[in-house]
Amino acid sequence: MKALTWQGKRKIEYGEVPDPTIEQPTDAIIKVTSTGICGSDLHLYEVLAPYLDPGDILGHEAMGVVAEVGSAVTNLKPGDRVVVPFQIACGSCYMCDQNLQTQCETTQVREQGMGAALFGYTKLYGQVPGGQAEYLRVPQAQYGPIKVPDGPRDDRFVYLSDVLPTAWQAVEYAAVPDGGTLLVLGLGPIGDMATRIAMHRGLRVIGVDLVAERLERARRNGVETLEYSDDVAEAIRTLTDGRGPDSVIDAVGMEAHGSPKAKFAQQAVGLLPDALQRKMMETIGVEQLAAVYLAIDVVRRGGTISLSGVYGGGADPLPMMTMFDKQIQLRMGQANVHRWSDQILPLLDETDVLGVESFATHHLDLSEGPAAYEMFQKKQDGAVKILLKP
Ligand SMILES: NC(=O)c1ccc[n+]([C@@H]2O[C@H](COP(=O)([O-])OP(=O)(O)OC[C@H]3O[C@@H](n4cnc5c(N)ncnc54)[C@H](O)[C@@H]3O)[C@@H](O)[C@H]2O)c1
Ligand SMILES: [Zn+2]
Ligand SMILES: [Zn+2]
Repeated sequence: MKALTWQGKRKIEYGEVPDPTIEQPTDAIIKVTSTGICGSDLHLYEVLAPYLDPGDILGHEAMGVVAEVGSAVTNLKPGDRVVVPFQIACGSCYMCDQNLQTQCETTQVREQGMGAALFGYTKLYGQVPGGQAEYLRVPQAQYGPIKVPDGPRDDRFVYLSDVLPTAWQAVEYAAVPDGGTLLVLGLGPIGDMATRIAMHRGLRVIGVDLVAERLERARRNGVETLEYSDDVAEAIRTLTDGRGPDSVIDAVGMEAHGSPKAKFAQQAVGLLPDALQRKMMETIGVEQLAAVYLAIDVVRRGGTISLSGVYGGGADPLPMMTMFDKQIQLRMGQANVHRWSDQILPLLDETDVLGVESFATHHLDLSEGPAAYEMFQKKQDGAVKILLKP
């Protein structure tokens, strides 16, 4: 089959790989019909190189049609239309029972000290072949795939794999009081979708980014927007009675614009051999904390910060004194897809209140994947969300 594989930093290849097969009774094989490129994939493209091997199949936002199931998978049959959550969870362990599917004890990657395995997401998360491919082997298929109705276009449902539950969890964790104000840092797919969910709940939403098209897109949906600059904290306070927003979502992550020191550290680390690179990433931290610092600075006292952006490194320095003094509540983590999917599904009807049908800016063929990664990273051609069709 054809797939997108990682070949090195900023090197994605479209080419032939072996077809996946059923390996466990709990596996299913899905014929992929749509598959997204995520901001998380950009970390693989850039900073997480030490954790990948050339040939790793990328992608964790797939939907499609069941082609084959293992003997223990009784809830699915060939021909079913499904969305595949980005994490692999069993649905019956202690953590899954707590609705913490990203911490699943059956699939935890213990040798790396990490949570549940993820599709297409490095050795840290089990090095499981991903969904930017014609076919995907889905482990724990007795629980994972979410069945969706035939009829509507893939665009209606594909974001259940990641964007929707991630943005939903970001808003839930932000715990904005009724009538309160939410600040969303970063208006990529995750931040943009979080603003839509928050507006749907009747909240006041302020959004910050550096990309004109992304700001404009949010503004059209009724978000008050501010362009990121060195003075953005003051501008945010001016809009919020000098007090700051009740809650802040960081939908940026570790490659935030605004930390030149980190850029240097990253490049320096990039020059070392893999094993040393890994050690450095784990001990000095990636230090790309511009968005977190901004969130800590501007959130009102006693407010909540909800981190969706992915962070690496074990020793990122944080302004602990200010965090303590301001009595900030900090919540974070990979989204637990099944925890939220039942609440989200009813919003994906014809009324399309979240605008999922027109959310993607680009629909491309899987073979155009290498160029699509570059376009998404460089934010060219107004690219916000790219869906690929194998
Ligand atoms: N928690 C989860 O389960 C989960 C799931 C999906 C994605 N993510 C993470 O969420 C983050 C966003 O993902 P995305 O798909 O929207 O990616 P993206 O890279 O397209 O979006 C990030 C946006 O942040 C903007 N930005 C950069 N620096 C900024 C700053 N200092 N202030 C304000 N905005 C700034 C960028 O211009 C960009 O528009 C990534 O870190 C991704 O890894 C987490
Ligand atoms: Zn993702
Ligand atoms: Zn589990």
